[in-house]
Parts: sequence; structure tokens; C-alpha cells
Amino acid sequence: METKEQRSEATVSRQLRCLAIGSGKGGVGKTVVSVGLSVALVEMGYRVLLFDADLGLANVDLQIGIDPVFTLQDVVYGECPLEQAVASVPGGPDILAASSGAREMATMSESRRDILVDDLIKFSAGYDFLIIDTEAGIGAGAIAFLQAMPQVNVVVANEPTSVMDAYSLIKILFGQPVPPEIRLVVNSVKTEDEGLRLAARLNEATKRFMGRTIETAGIVLYDSVVGDAIRARRSVVQFSPQSAPALCLRHLAQSIVSSSKARDFGKPMKRSAFGNIASVGQGDSHLEGQV
Ligand SMILES: Nc1ncnc2c1ncn2[C@@H]1O[C@H](COP(=O)(O)OP(=O)(O)OP(=O)(O)O)[C@@H](O)[C@H]1O
Ligand SMILES: [Mg+2]
Repeated sequence: METKEQRSEATVSRQLRCLAIGSGKGGVGKTVVSVGLSVALVEMGYRVLLFDADLGLANVDLQIGIDPVFTLQDVVYGECPLEQAVASVPGGPDILAASSGAREMATMSESRRDILVDDLIKFSAGYDFLIIDTEAGIGAGAIAFLQAMPQVNVVVANEPTSVMDAYSLIKILFGQPVPPEIRLVVNSVKTEDEGLRLAARLNEATKRFMGRTIETAGIVLYDSVVGDAIRARRSVVQFSPQSAPALCLRHLAQSIVSSSKARDFGKPMKRSAFGNIASVGQGDSHLEGQV
């Protein structure tokens, strides 16, 4: 068991890793996955900042049970510094919440977004993971955040529209000048086999029409306990730690940690205002060998 001192020592030399959770179709489980993954990474000893970038229909705060006094909107409009808008969840990640229904946020100008991103980059230096929950679809807001990240996990459910829309999103991301690493998270399936078959189907299409296949980062099983957890405003990982979705989300967290060891997804990106996001990373984490 790590002492508090050892933990803070590890924090000093930790390396920031940045990833986004996206989807073509809405309502397929992006927020369930973002929140659950964040909690699972915190359980593993990582420091996680979860940023709700769904600027029009924010809902991370609802699913994790915080009632933020200040939100991203207050930061963007100069009402408070970014650190004041970050809420902590016991045993969970720190959250930078968006404000739901703020249309002016959803249509934020590029220069405002750049200022916000600069602040976010500086602030993220104290974390191991920056996880961005984005809005669904292929609109400018979603793509701006997704294409800026070194790794995007696309959530897909087993419905024809979800698969079609995931395909469209993947195509757009692959079409970027410097595409992010794209991985798949299959959500709400009854069996692992159903998830594997869905991933294989999608990969047949991406291979045929884009010449590339996509690794499956995780499969999250369907369980009505997820709905119960949302009603209790807690992550399913904390609400029902031994449930199938909680175990799947922990497995996903492990897969993301492994992928971050194999490929450095905190490296600088030249594609946007997020360009120097990794320069805040400070070498290898002492934690790496322990998980
Ligand atoms: N693995 C699961 N098992 C059972 N229900 C699930 C699962 N994942 C998600 N759900 C259900 O799907 C609903 C939508 O999930 P969530 O809010 O995470 O989707 P979203 O993609 O973030 O939606 P939006 O695009 O609106 O942001 C939840 O209310 C939850 O009840
Ligand atoms: Mg959501």
C-alpha cells in the first residue's frame, strides 16, 4: 500500500496522457464510459481530470453527483479561474463541468476555445490522464476536440445507426492531416461475443473502404444496474463494483494504461491549439511498473 508521501512523490514525475471519448450517434454511453473509466483509473492510483466538453448538453456532473457552483462557462467568460471550476469527487476524478443548455458555449469562437485550451493545458500538468467526454456526432465542436487528441475511443452500440455513425466519425478522423489513434469501445452488448462480432463487422467496412482496421479497446456489457447507478448519480464502478459493466470498465482502464505504455499518447500534436498539451508531461511515472 502506498503512503500519501509516496503518492505525491510519484505525482511529481508523472506523465500526462490525453484521450477523448467520442461517438457518431448520441446516447450510446460516452458519459457512462468516460465517468466509469475515470473512476477505474483513479482506483488504480492515477490522477484523472475529466473534462465535459459536451458544451451544449453537458451531463458528466449529473452522472457523477456533483452540483458545480462554477462551470466551464464561468471560466470562459472570466467569472472565475479554471481551478475554481474544478470539482473533486471522493474516490473519483476531478471534474471540469460544462453548463448544460448554454448555446453560446456550444458555438464558442475559436479564439475563446484557444484561451480555454491554453488554461486547460497548464492546469492538466498535475494529472496523469486528461479524459475528454465530447458531444456526439460529426459537428465542428465535437471534431475540434477529437482531432486535437492523440487518442480517441469511439463508443459504439449494437444498433445500425450507431454503427453507421461511428463509421462516419472514424472516416472523418482518419481524414485529418494528423489523425489521432482511434480505438473502439463497444457498449451495451449482451455478451462479449456480440461485441467482438460488432467490432469485426465495423472493421470489415473500415478495412475495405479506408484500408485500416481499428483495435478494440474494450467491450462493456449491458446491465440495468447502469441505469440504477445513473439515478443514484454515481458511476457504476462505485455503485456496483462487482457488476459486469464495472468489471468491463476496469478492464478498459487497464487496456488504456497498456496502450499508453506501448504508444506515447501524451506526445505533442501539431494539429491544433492542443498542440503543446504534452509538453506539460514530466517524464515517466513511478506508478507505471506497479499497475
Ligand atoms: N452498459 C450499459 N448497460 C446498460 N445501460 C447503459 C449502458 N451504457 C449506457 N447505458 C444507458 O444509456 C443511456 C445513455 O448513456 P450516456 O448518457 O452515457 O450516453 P451518451 O453517449 O453520453 O449520450 P449523449 O450523446 O446524450 O451525451 C444511459 O442513461 C444508460 O442508462
Ligand atoms: Mg454524454
